[in-house]
Amino acid sequence: MSEVFHIAKHFSISERAVVFEGDCLELLKNVPSDSIQLIITSPPYNLGKEYERKLKPEEYFDQQRKVITECSRVLNKTGSICWQVGNFVDSSSIIPIDNILYPIFRDLGFKMRNRIIWHFEHGLHASKRFSGRYETILWFTKTDDYVFNLDPIRVPQKYPGKKFFKGPKKGQYSSNPLGKNPGDLWIFPNVKSNHVEKTIHPCQFPVELVDRLVLSMTNQNDWVLDPFLGVGTTIVSAIRNNRRGAGAEIVKKYVTIAHDRISKAQKGRLPIRLYTQPVFDPQYAGKNLTNAPWLKPLPQDNGQLKLMEKAGNLYRKAK
Ligand SMILES: C[S@@+](CC[C@H](N)C(=O)[O-])C[C@H]1O[C@@H](n2cnc3c(N)ncnc32)[C@H](O)[C@@H]1O
Repeated sequence: MSEVFHIAKHFSISERAVVFEGDCLELLKNVPSDSIQLIITSPPYNLGKEYERKLKPEEYFDQQRKVITECSRVLNKTGSICWQVGNFVDSSSIIPIDNILYPIFRDLGFKMRNRIIWHFEHGLHASKRFSGRYETILWFTKTDDYVFNLDPIRVPQKYPGKKFFKGPKKGQYSSNPLGKNPGDLWIFPNVKSNHVEKTIHPCQFPVELVDRLVLSMTNQNDWVLDPFLGVGTTIVSAIRNNRRGAGAEIVKKYVTIAHDRISKAQKGRLPIRLYTQPVFDPQYAGKNLTNAPWLKPLPQDNGQLKLMEKAGNLYRKAK
């Protein structure tokens, strides 16, 4: 864990953590060009949440364009932007926000590297369409010469014991012992009431999601910036991983919580869900209420098991 340092109120390149209370464009004004390695954010979705005034779609688009343009200015040549978004929902009709924001990035010359699908299990239950259970992270780089460290974010292989069965490497393990590329479909629980990281903020993103972006797209001591900071998750991840973090937030109570979380994270005292923890499965954990009382338990299918056993015996005999 990194050393304990103070949390600055205004951006200065010599700081380690900056929480600016106010509009993100004001914070960005004071950030030098080409100084930030990674910008991660989950902007307001214009859904009329407690922290947002619902704007007309053109107004929202215009506001986002201004912020993204400033982010482009402050971003380093080897840097990345990750914009994490969901959908507008309007009378049960959805408008994918990533689709409408993509042209802004494209027109600024950004190159899209992945459209990551973040899948989670909890949310509103829709009755006239399928319930929404994913959001996306649009990952853009400023140039082709960008930082991407795969090793720190590898995940366990499915078959680590698999070996080459022919050729010069016959008998050697065939997969990378450090693990495999996690792919572009990410499964992390969203931060709802039972999540250890939950605060009063209605739309926090989980630290493990930000960690994966920070570890792969930055190096130690690089700057990570979040223009829509909320309760400080991006800075928490930055400092846990020995990077520098800055962000802006307009709502005072979220700023206060961000300060508290960052201070606790510095001391290693902030409860965090680690990506190595399996996703909670209530049935597997033997929780009450996971069996529907109106259904009889299914009889064990011995027929199927016998069939598989017979097939196995035949196969062994044939060998
Ligand atoms: C979706 S939330 C981000 C939550 C954050 N990812 C977290 O984990 O806490 C968007 C945040 O942006 C803030 N916000 C909205 N407009 C802003 C602006 N112009 N400048 C700075 N923050 C703003 C909102 O108050 C809200 O907390």
